[in-house]
Amino acid sequence: MFQLLDYAKSLLSEDIPRDGVLVDFTMGNGHDTLYLSGLVPEGKVYAFDVQEMALVNTRKLLDENGRSNVTLIKDSHEHILEYVKEEIDGGMFNLGYLPGSDKVIHTMRRSTELAVNGALERLKKGGHLVISVYPGHDEGRLEGELLLDMLSKLDRKKFCAMNFRILNAADSPFVIAIEKYKK
Ligand SMILES: C[S@@+](CC[C@H](N)C(=O)[O-])C[C@H]1O[C@@H](n2cnc3c(N)ncnc32)[C@H](O)[C@@H]1O
Repeated sequence: MFQLLDYAKSLLSEDIPRDGVLVDFTMGNGHDTLYLSGLVPEGKVYAFDVQEMALVNTRKLLDENGRSNVTLIKDSHEHILEYVKEEIDGGMFNLGYLPGSDKVIHTMRRSTELAVNGALERLKKGGHLVISVYPGHDEGRLEGELLLDMLSKLDRKKFCAMNFRILNAADSPFVIAIEKYKK
């Protein structure tokens, strides 16, 4: 069956140099962080989460897979500019709450907006951001509306912002992908 998240990852992985810099804005249990670290074996990944448990689980997963190219950051992704001083080749947001958690901690539209703006500021020409949105809960729906509105206003000469969604499923998760043009 078609998996939207796998599609999001495949969009991101185009043209990433082995020594590139990537950011996982929502580390969770570290599955996406592990994937990103494999794309840049000679480079670096920054991963953010506000939950200590996310850092513990992700560190364990990375250690089990012998990965040492990841910096784990326990802070909100809205502070990206404080931690990531260099340009990035790409970044990934998997919004919402951690599956299996009590759902109390989830991404919020104001901090997501700040984080996406920070990511766009750091994004290299030719780089991609992918954002998976889950409109099946109230904050997710509002977060999605805000992102679609904000990103549809990006300068067309500098960025291409795209939206991928499943049409025949109510409240289906959807993916936003942004490319910063090379020229
Ligand atoms: C859908 S989960 C991410 C799944 C994860 N990428 C994985 O592979 O397991 C969303 C995560 O975003 C985190 N989160 C919520 N608000 C955040 C914020 N302001 N900054 C960074 N992470 C945040 C949650 O703690 C949760 O772990």
